[in-house]
Amino acid sequence: MLNNEISAVVEHGGQFFALAKLRGFSSQQALEQIIDLSASINPNQPRMTQDLSLSLLRHYPPQPADNLVNALINKFQLPSESIRLTNGISAAILSIFAHLRPDNTVLYTPLYGEYQRAAECYSRNLIEIKRDIQNPDNQAWLLEKVPANSLLVFVNPATPDGTYYSPMQLAPLLKQAREQNCWLLMDESFLPFLGFSENLSLRPLLANWPKLIILQSLTKYYACPGLRVGAVFAHRDFLNHWPQAAWPISSLDSDLLTQALQDNQFDQDNQAWLSGAQPDLIDRLNTSPLIKHCYPTQTNFVLVQTRRPAKQITQALQNANILLRPCDSFGLGDDHIRIAVQTSATHQRLINALNNLTKEPNHAVI
Ligand SMILES: Cc1ncc(COP(=O)(O)O)c(C=O)c1O
Repeated sequence: MLNNEISAVVEHGGQFFALAKLRGFSSQQALEQIIDLSASINPNQPRMTQDLSLSLLRHYPPQPADNLVNALINKFQLPSESIRLTNGISAAILSIFAHLRPDNTVLYTPLYGEYQRAAECYSRNLIEIKRDIQNPDNQAWLLEKVPANSLLVFVNPATPDGTYYSPMQLAPLLKQAREQNCWLLMDESFLPFLGFSENLSLRPLLANWPKLIILQSLTKYYACPGLRVGAVFAHRDFLNHWPQAAWPISSLDSDLLTQALQDNQFDQDNQAWLSGAQPDLIDRLNTSPLIKHCYPTQTNFVLVQTRRPAKQITQALQNANILLRPCDSFGLGDDHIRIAVQTSATHQRLINALNNLTKEPNHAVI
């Protein structure tokens, strides 16, 4: 494998195992030496112990996975009829598009790349409405007209910039979606980092809006993308018609995630961590001459504009075993990078690596 092959072939962050393979690391060596700031995964892990008896794996999982569904009912304040488990949100995106096959898909960009991929597979027409990430006060794009009966896709908090739009800010878009009889796919995967209050979410609208679908990844906040499990929240009319595999998640998925959701201290610890770690990362990044601008963020990642080509920086840091997410595949050009908020020790290692870069004669910035 060539040294730069990871970034060449993959449009996703989170290439921890690809880098480990490139280096010839064992899993243990990789855990000790690689820092992944490219996937925005919580550095805190809830209490999970693998105490599932292997003998239970000789049986098909309970269907539905009652323990996990009950934990989700409590956490997200929804009735069980509005909840479906899925083998990760990435799988749900493709499956929902394959089911709805909309003539027109409207993507509010930039956004998670799997939506574009799904739209290209299953939709006749792809319409892009660009959010103004340079100027969050400009909300004119929220009023842009959408075709009747289309499928609208919005990620909130948004990637890669971390902007959160309150239900009140989204009101013009919601009104139009209803009037135009559109499906609205709202991806709230990063919302738990802001909290679980119903006021932050569109969940309260589900009961009376049969065309609203909320996608809730559980792998980011609960720090377990190695499990493939997520939740789709929607009206029962949609859920009853959306075809799913008979056992969408494994016993291991539901057992571990149920434990994670029941860790009562976890939310409090996260709020405390994020309120300190997010400004810590931004303050440190602002000291680097390689960083031109840190975008304001409400969540657990920071979008930065760089003074050097982003790919040059991400490649150099990859050589130091630090993974960052260049954002050209989000349509932002080669001067944007997304960086996950982690611990201050990790932030310091990042800044040291950036500083080393500015000392090298070939990379001199100023
Ligand atoms: C906005 C958003 N939604 C959904 C996903 C998919 O998450 P998963 O398949 O791990 O549930 C991602 C992954 O990066 C994401 O960024």
